[in-house]
Amino acid sequence: MKCQFTVFRFDPAADESPRYQEYRVDAEPTDKILDCLNKIRWEQDPTLAFRASCSHGICGSDALTINGHVGLACQKLVRDYKTANNFVIEPLPLFKVIKDLVVDMNPFLEKHRSVKPYLINDEPPPEGERIQSQKDQTVIEPALRCILCASCTASCPISRSNPDYVGPAALLRAFRYVYDSRDTATGSRLAGLDGNDGAWGCKTMWWCTDVCPKGIPVTRCIGQIKRAIKQKDKKP
Ligand code: SF4
Ligand code: FES
Repeated sequence: MKCQFTVFRFDPAADESPRYQEYRVDAEPTDKILDCLNKIRWEQDPTLAFRASCSHGICGSDALTINGHVGLACQKLVRDYKTANNFVIEPLPLFKVIKDLVVDMNPFLEKHRSVKPYLINDEPPPEGERIQSQKDQTVIEPALRCILCASCTASCPISRSNPDYVGPAALLRAFRYVYDSRDTATGSRLAGLDGNDGAWGCKTMWWCTDVCPKGIPVTRCIGQIKRAIKQKDKKP
């Protein structure tokens, strides 16, 4: 069937302002939106810029706005949209456009780095691995599924109104270490998150949870950080 794609185009180095370009694509209902974008680039317009790598919801590089909703182009199928085969494709909101659908991820990744996204343990290292029980691993398991696609942060109304808010993706990563039974930096981690640019910036809007392509209960995890702060750095 014929599908109409209206795609955001903008090259800040050459264009004065953004525009939208129309493409017609032959697609099956089971085709991914990414398949359609690939067809456009391979068969019609090699200048169209977008990111993608794995095509299977693993690398997190192809988060876009599809008909007004943020999602992974490789996870969304043509048949998922009841829009008479008309699609409007735009970059992630909130992020600066580098070219067309490619956005600057650096501010997002800087916020991610700010929560120290690695295990801190000041005890002497054991002979082998730092063992974690299955029960303890279950606590942080949802956060381990995060692919850093930025869909949550791009959709978050607080991130839109407060540029200093660390955002749901970084908070989820912070949760992963605050609740990691092997991490010994819980106190300093919670102190760093105890503010309106940290965990208290979250107003429990649930948009992050709604858009997460990995089904992670992001809002609930942020709520658990708030609870840990109130319990004065005590690990559950
Ligand atoms: Fe993407 Fe979900 Fe991770 Fe947010 S929490 S970056 S939406 S995978
Ligand atoms: Fe890797 Fe979509 S291309 S998540």
